[in-house]
Amino acid sequence: MAATQSPFEPLRLDHRLRDAGLFIQQAFQTFRATGAIAPSGTALSTALTRFVTQRDDPTAPINILEAGSGTGPVSRAIAAHMREGDTLDMVEANPRFTRHLEEMVKTDPVFSNASDRTTVHTALVNDLGTDRRFDTIISGLPFANFTADEVRTILDYYFTVLRPGGRLSFFGYLYTKEIKAVIAPREQYLRQAQSSWVVEEWVNRYGIGTDRILLNLPPAWIFHLRKPLD
Ligand SMILES: C[S@@+](CC[C@H](N)C(=O)[O-])C[C@H]1O[C@@H](n2cnc3c(N)ncnc32)[C@H](O)[C@@H]1O
Repeated sequence: MAATQSPFEPLRLDHRLRDAGLFIQQAFQTFRATGAIAPSGTALSTALTRFVTQRDDPTAPINILEAGSGTGPVSRAIAAHMREGDTLDMVEANPRFTRHLEEMVKTDPVFSNASDRTTVHTALVNDLGTDRRFDTIISGLPFANFTADEVRTILDYYFTVLRPGGRLSFFGYLYTKEIKAVIAPREQYLRQAQSSWVVEEWVNRYGIGTDRILLNLPPAWIFHLRKPLD
């Protein structure tokens, strides 16, 4: 099957500033859900698409789910690597971001070959339903801001809608636990420690690799997990 890749041009500086402005404004209003101070950079966005580019069967189209798309830097990297027949579902809880994403899918040249196979959903990811199956899930959700129960519910959901053998890639920022240990109130630090134990439990069980991305604000870890075949 012919690949229909679009060139992954970095965003023009004025668009990057516009997106960063929107992101920072939303981070001020809803920091717990937004969970970062800036959109992911090119190095992190590209590394998160590892299992859009590396496929078990390079001739078979794949279904991709991106959770927590924000202003869309990772979505653009995914779109640049989509091939004929691939589908992308982007789910984002913040309607201010989804309006921006819908416009991006219609007008950004990186989506020119993929816009008719891309859907933007305004929803919490685990409200998306369980009738679809995905080959690759890329999650930008800020697990460090969630409770242990919320993290477990979302990881359970991902492993329900992931097909056997499918991959999940998600990221967290380096040293957040250590920084919170120093600056955050004790109960906030404990909550984050508990949610990070849930993440660790899943990484220990299903992890297949990690990437450390220093060229990002803030620097990040990526965890890649694989759902067992049976
Ligand atoms: C750390 S930002 C990542 C944004 C973007 N992926 C990036 O890398 O720049 C997390 C995003 O997840 C969204 N979000 C948080 N909780 C969510 C949920 N339960 N379901 C869907 N989106 C969620 C936030 O609104 C925010 O846009």
